[in-house]
Amino acid sequence: MLDVQTAAHPHVTRREDYRPPDWLVPEIALDFDLDPAATRVKATLHVIRESAHDEPIRLDGGGQVPITVMVDGTPINDWRIEDETLVIPLSGSAHTIETEVEVAPERNTQLMGLYASGGNLCTQCEAEGFRRITFFPDRPDVLSRYKVRMTADKARFPVLLANGDPVDSGTLGDGRHWAEWHDPFPKPCYLFAMVAGDLVANRATFVTGSGREVALGIWVRAGDLSKTDHALEALKTAMAWDERVYGREYDLDVFNIVAVDDFNFGAMENKGLNIFNSRYVLADPDTATDYDFDAIAAVVAHEYFHNWSGNRVTCRDWFQLSLKEGFTVFRDQSFSADQGSAAVKRIEDVRGLRAAQFPEDAGPLAHPIRPDAYQEISNFYTATIYNKGAEVIRMMATMLGPKRFRAATDLYFERFDGTAATCEDFVACMEEAGGIDLGQFRLWYSQAGTPRVTASIEHDAGSGRAVLTLSQRTLPTPGEPDKAPMVLPLRLKLFGAETAKPIGPEQLVILTGAEERISFETVTQRPVLSINRGFSAPVIVETDRTAADLAFLSAHDDDPFARYEAMQQLMLDTLVAGANQGRANHQAVIDAIVNTLDDPQLDRAFVAEAVLLPSESFIGDQMPVVDPEAIFTAREALRRDIGHALDARWRAEYDAASATRFEYSPLAKGLRRLRTVALGYIAANGGDEAAALAFAQFEAADNMTDRQGALTTLVNGASDRRIAALDIFYNRYSDNALVLDKWFSTQALSPRDDTLATVQELAGHRDFTLANPNRARALVGAFSVNQRAFHSGNGAGYRFVTDQLIALDKLNPQTAAKLIPPLGRWRRFDAARGDLMRAELERIVGTPGLSKDMFEQASKSLE
Ligand code: ARG
Ligand code: ZN
Repeated sequence: MLDVQTAAHPHVTRREDYRPPDWLVPEIALDFDLDPAATRVKATLHVIRESAHDEPIRLDGGGQVPITVMVDGTPINDWRIEDETLVIPLSGSAHTIETEVEVAPERNTQLMGLYASGGNLCTQCEAEGFRRITFFPDRPDVLSRYKVRMTADKARFPVLLANGDPVDSGTLGDGRHWAEWHDPFPKPCYLFAMVAGDLVANRATFVTGSGREVALGIWVRAGDLSKTDHALEALKTAMAWDERVYGREYDLDVFNIVAVDDFNFGAMENKGLNIFNSRYVLADPDTATDYDFDAIAAVVAHEYFHNWSGNRVTCRDWFQLSLKEGFTVFRDQSFSADQGSAAVKRIEDVRGLRAAQFPEDAGPLAHPIRPDAYQEISNFYTATIYNKGAEVIRMMATMLGPKRFRAATDLYFERFDGTAATCEDFVACMEEAGGIDLGQFRLWYSQAGTPRVTASIEHDAGSGRAVLTLSQRTLPTPGEPDKAPMVLPLRLKLFGAETAKPIGPEQLVILTGAEERISFETVTQRPVLSINRGFSAPVIVETDRTAADLAFLSAHDDDPFARYEAMQQLMLDTLVAGANQGRANHQAVIDAIVNTLDDPQLDRAFVAEAVLLPSESFIGDQMPVVDPEAIFTAREALRRDIGHALDARWRAEYDAASATRFEYSPLAKGLRRLRTVALGYIAANGGDEAAALAFAQFEAADNMTDRQGALTTLVNGASDRRIAALDIFYNRYSDNALVLDKWFSTQALSPRDDTLATVQELAGHRDFTLANPNRARALVGAFSVNQRAFHSGNGAGYRFVTDQLIALDKLNPQTAAKLIPPLGRWRRFDAARGDLMRAELERIVGTPGLSKDMFEQASKSLE
């Protein structure tokens, strides 16, 4: 029977069905005759039968039809296409297969495979894009040595790049030229890349620890060259860091990064030829914020680190994706923590986890970091695989300690170098070199959901004994009704309520049971519990600590993260009370903010994070039924009170943080961050005069952080200067796509009443297009996470997003499907909203010709 792969009968790939490949391809030669309208791709595969079987070779395709198929130099006719797979019967144990296909890069709107961006040609193959370029066993456990030859028009595509090292090039008579690149390292096809374009490079040399000279290049359009220094510096820093911290050296003679404007996600770690979304390469003070600068360094490091965690050791199958992504995110987080304030970096990472991963784990798309089944693997490049995956690695690093963790990663890299490994392989190395049993810990790989820990402490002043009771439970997730207790490494410490000093040293308590008790002796004063310090386990902690306890910890805890966390909890409790009851006492929060502002020990970046209120959606996550209006009102009321009560303080901080000239240093970044937060509070309280202050900052700014901070304040406010600022900003940057994205997203994220109407209008703006993923995300993606606006207008917000996603799906299913989750949160809202959201999901599922990407996300969201 024919296996009909339609949206209504989706094909499901299961982890338990994994079988090693029947055929290996140790060598491949590719020959590209490049042209945006019609590119010819000739592939020569040396294939070897793996073990005794009589299966034909199956080469995945992406809808192309082969122009020719040859086996051992002879054209054959007994090939067939099943679904999109090219099936070739072979008699012997080793053969040479040659195929030729034609593809049209300029018509490739999915941005997977070979496509055109800004007049240049580039590739994206992970996860399954290579099959759209040529017929091949498109699975990560088939590793090949690549030889690539590219021929193209020399004037139009003067630069030709591929993986590995360049070996030869030449000019042809007809205005065309060619180049050949060889990659000596066997790799899966998802790491293949080539670029043809009119590009220039910012170049440098890096000398590795063993003395190898590596030629570095950041390739961009000529006009963008001045915006590449930061990425190049970050690359050099990352290369040295990986040598120092993980003992990992680079292994080719060249390392190139190419920036492209049309890209489905952040960046891609292709061997020796990373291809990046230009937003993670291009930066100068006038166009990029401090967040952009930091994100660029983090992504450059992330992709570079993949050279070992991903490329030298790759994944056996896509269920192991977190093997490379979770580990590499952990590595890039550690790198960034080493470049500036580690505490602020941890706060940012936890905030990101709570904003994206916790809701995922609590919703219809929850999955473990090593999933068991998928319809479309692109849908599993999630916050769970990446960010929760990184937390799981972090927990193992915490339990092993730095020395044993390093021994374990050394063992992992040595043992699996040149192979396609599994998550189990990684954990086994942790166990072996770490000398610990991770049997129960492995549940982190198979069980979804965020564990909830309750902690309460009982103190008997007479006997000096304190007993801490810890318990854990994880709520059911789709397909997993019963959850087992997890291994939770919890760093904790007690503080004396009277002395405000620690009672004893910090302990690492490893909670493994559903409930455990821990006793502390000679506790002579009331203890206040500091728990999950540094966010040592990715869990939700519920305690019976009072507002006074939280205020106490926010002033006295010696772990900066715990200090931040205490303040956040205090704010959350206040905001949830406000949303539920329509009013709340704001004084404890205001006092805690004053204490933080007053503390001379704290760096300004930390202070800026600590005094910031939790987001509307994070407040919603604390409530049984999310009430967007009540949350917004409660949060605005608190913001206004903080602004009003501390007006003089905010103005003093604002003035103190005003620098004379732009500088990119941790200190200067911290001051800018606090200044923007202060401006926000001044504006929350003030009227026109605050708008004038914001407008003055907007006009005087010599950097994008200050300019965008001021613009956001204005765009969120009621003043007429809002329009003026938006116009000035637009006109100044109308030729800079990345800054225009900010212009769109700032408006889409505004808390104003008219945001829905504004966004609907912006969708018709001449600079809006769904064809560019960054632009689509800047408007549609940003709007759908603006809790109040998205859920406003009696479903008009849902309808708007759904219309856009259905249109986007026709061009780019992968990017469209990524934007489904906000609609999938329908269970969290009142019945009226829930019904409206479900109706839109049903409209998506019922759309003729829907992609399997969208079908999987939308249908699962309805379950
Ligand atoms: N491996 C890339 C990274 O460094 C991302 C690839 C994403 N692929 C996808 N189909 N979404 O994170
Ligand atoms: Zn990655």
